Amino acid sequence: MKKKHKVTILPFDTIIEVQPRTNLLDAINAANLPLTAVCGGEGTCGECVVQITSGRYHSKPSAALSDEIVSEGYALACQTFVEDDLTVVLPRFEELSIRSVVDHEFFDERRDLISGIYEVDPPVQKIDLQVEAPSLEDNYSDLKRIERALGKSWPSGNISCEYSVLKKMAYAVRKDHGKISIVLARLGGSRFIIDIFPQSEKKSVCGLACDIGTSTVALHLVDLSTGKFLGTASSYNQQMKCGEDIISRINYSQKPGRLEELHDLIIGTINLLIKKASESAGVPPADIYYAAISGNTTMIHLFLNLNPNYIREEPYVPTINQPPVVRSQDLGLDLNPEARVSCTPAVGSYVGGDITSGLLCTPILLDTEKVFLFLDAGTNGELVVGNKEWLMTCACSAGPAFEGSGIKCGMPASEGAIETIKIDDKGRFGYEVINNAKPKGLCGSGLVDLLAELFVHGFVDRNGKFIERTARNKIVQTENGEGLLIVEGPKSFWGNDIVITEKDIANLIRTKGAIYSACSMLLKSAGLKFHEIDSVYIAGGFGQHLDIENSVRIGLLPDIERAKFSYLGNSSLLGAYLMLLTDKNHSIVNKIADQTTYIELNTEPRYMNEFTGALFLPHTEMDLFPSVKKVFDRIR
Ligand code: FES
Repeated sequence: MKKKHKVTILPFDTIIEVQPRTNLLDAINAANLPLTAVCGGEGTCGECVVQITSGRYHSKPSAALSDEIVSEGYALACQTFVEDDLTVVLPRFEELSIRSVVDHEFFDERRDLISGIYEVDPPVQKIDLQVEAPSLEDNYSDLKRIERALGKSWPSGNISCEYSVLKKMAYAVRKDHGKISIVLARLGGSRFIIDIFPQSEKKSVCGLACDIGTSTVALHLVDLSTGKFLGTASSYNQQMKCGEDIISRINYSQKPGRLEELHDLIIGTINLLIKKASESAGVPPADIYYAAISGNTTMIHLFLNLNPNYIREEPYVPTINQPPVVRSQDLGLDLNPEARVSCTPAVGSYVGGDITSGLLCTPILLDTEKVFLFLDAGTNGELVVGNKEWLMTCACSAGPAFEGSGIKCGMPASEGAIETIKIDDKGRFGYEVINNAKPKGLCGSGLVDLLAELFVHGFVDRNGKFIERTARNKIVQTENGEGLLIVEGPKSFWGNDIVITEKDIANLIRTKGAIYSACSMLLKSAGLKFHEIDSVYIAGGFGQHLDIENSVRIGLLPDIERAKFSYLGNSSLLGAYLMLLTDKNHSIVNKIADQTTYIELNTEPRYMNEFTGALFLPHTEMDLFPSVKKVFDRIR
């Protein structure tokens, strides 16, 4: 029998052994990894493109990829055969760039305008101590003398010490004649010494802020002594191969062994990102002592290996809303084994810690007079309305369209994504691409622009169907039916046309309709009209350049004063960062979670009517969008 070849598939770090000459698409499918193959392996759709970074392979020539791309190792998996050990990258799932915030400007500018506290007093920190040498007269134990030294600068109280620390204590205390550093964790009213070392071992003490999204996972590595960002990394959530939304993940988790599989996949995703961020920052993962994790309730259940089943069944009750602090070694995270891991609390089954932490980045808790609306338009849309005195929330299943999933040429907001689009009076398309790269596809903000521009320039009607008279010169045939050509193949990175199909548009209209109708229902429940909202904060994975005007034109956002809108980016991650900096933010999010009233849309009969009404551009009732009506009347 011939020697098998090892195929390593990134970014999932999955290794599969296959017979020589195995078709690469079959190998990827056998590894149970997600790779779209719309033409069924005919070599015509270009959807199964991969990049092969090492090893020998044979690829049949294909018109779906340009020579330039092929010379960089890109190949169609369905037309490629394994001849060696290979390393294969699935480009759709490769590292995303975090474009929402990469430095402190966000908080420096808003210090007094956010509900969270922006100060560096982390609950896990390094403390340098001088421990007195023992003598016959002072023969207290090492631990007692450490407690005494600590008591000189820190308030007294019970301190526990991990067994792993006790094992190193005698050496650490004597190595530098009593000059030691301890890592002290002060969480939930308890104090623990979680590490000890002689001061001559110059170790940094770092933290990890992490947002676990249903589709993407992003993290910041932070120096806990200064609060500075040291590194960032993000990628698709590897659980995507088990279902794109939370309900399909919950369903998947119900077969034997599947809960553990989902848990391992999210831990694997985070460990990969820890490796990337720590390598780029030159920080060993063992120096990471604290992690603040934010995510929706289902993601947190899967992260903690808790059964999420009852989240989806009436009366929609999770196992826990305010998870306890756990140790990294109990979860399998590649941090210091004694690192503490703290999750942001949830309001309920469908409004999770991603929302409570996101609210830290808004002024919602600073005012009793004004009314704020917070909207997180991820795979699940979550909304909060209120102020310091009252908060109401609800959630809807929006789908991942604005994150680039389920759209033929959709992609996340990373290099090569078209993020803004304009159509001029002559019907010509102009666009901007992230990092000025050759265009690969459309991210959320590009899709919002595209839909709005197609609508106001008469390429699509209010149902989202192509208007023959205007669109006919741009219509091309795709495997998914007719598509409207945005970028011709030779001008795109992949060498394929970038198009939008009617199916894509229907998907986008459903997503925006779900979000708008949930907003509308929430406000009705609070007895408010849209114009009574003073400020709207938008979070989500659209990309940096979400155009508010265009969001209103398609009926995603209400037609109110544009100055009331602000786009926050990934506020769940930003909130997790604030949680790392001081435990005071934990008290604030706990209060938010306790005080927020949750409205269940699943059992609200009026929601379906609202949703149906929102399945048009911009809405069935044009009068709800007077500024869009004006434009529409002028151009038609
Ligand atoms: S599945 Fe390979 S090109 Fe379509």
